[in-house]
Amino acid sequence: MTALADLLARRRSRRDFAATPLGLDELTGLLWAAQGSTGDGHRTSPSAHARHPLSVCAVTGHTGIQWYETETGALRPGDPRDHRDAVARASLADEAWLGTAPALLVLGGDLAAARAAFAEQPPAGVRGERYLWLEAGHASQNVYLWATAKGLGAVLVAGFDDERLRALPVVPDGHDPLAILAVGHPANP
Ligand SMILES: Cc1cc2nc3c(=O)[nH]c(=O)nc-3n(C[C@H](O)[C@H](O)[C@H](O)COP(=O)(O)O)c2cc1C
Repeated sequence: MTALADLLARRRSRRDFAATPLGLDELTGLLWAAQGSTGDGHRTSPSAHARHPLSVCAVTGHTGIQWYETETGALRPGDPRDHRDAVARASLADEAWLGTAPALLVLGGDLAAARAAFAEQPPAGVRGERYLWLEAGHASQNVYLWATAKGLGAVLVAGFDDERLRALPVVPDGHDPLAILAVGHPANP
């Protein structure tokens, strides 16, 4: 089996996390998989018209919120508080376990700007938004596969209360929350 086929076959949603924080290299590796630069003007994820409109931050317990800077691969500090429980409470299901994940990666994007950018493409006013959701899906699968390759756990949580999540400093002003990816070391590897 090829390496990629093996990763695809082993990819699973994991919701059991050890308390151990992710190391910086582990965290930046996951973020690079989501939206990293490949050094040639492109990124690890495809993007309609190469607009690359996604924002990505990591919400952790010990370092607060950190924004991923695609150009440099560096982390820019945001709000220093631990917002994991607040993000967990914004999810639709009873997902207290979400708050126990060492890191929550939050993908965001400006839905109105995406609709406007592709307003000339039918169906009018809808196409650009679809592209944004698809891009969040691509980035999410990249995180799943990277986590699988590195022996980490990951799960996409897309059921959440938009307003509650938007009220937290986990998406830039004007961005809508698109996806949460809980990541960490599995409790039961
Ligand atoms: C669009 C989408 C939304 C999801 N939302 C949630 C969610 O809100 N909470 C959750 O625990 N899992 C969520 N998942 C993960 C699914 O439950 C999981 O992929 C499914 O059970 C199949 O398991 P597998 O990923 O291990 O193959 C979501 C997956 C997708 C693709």
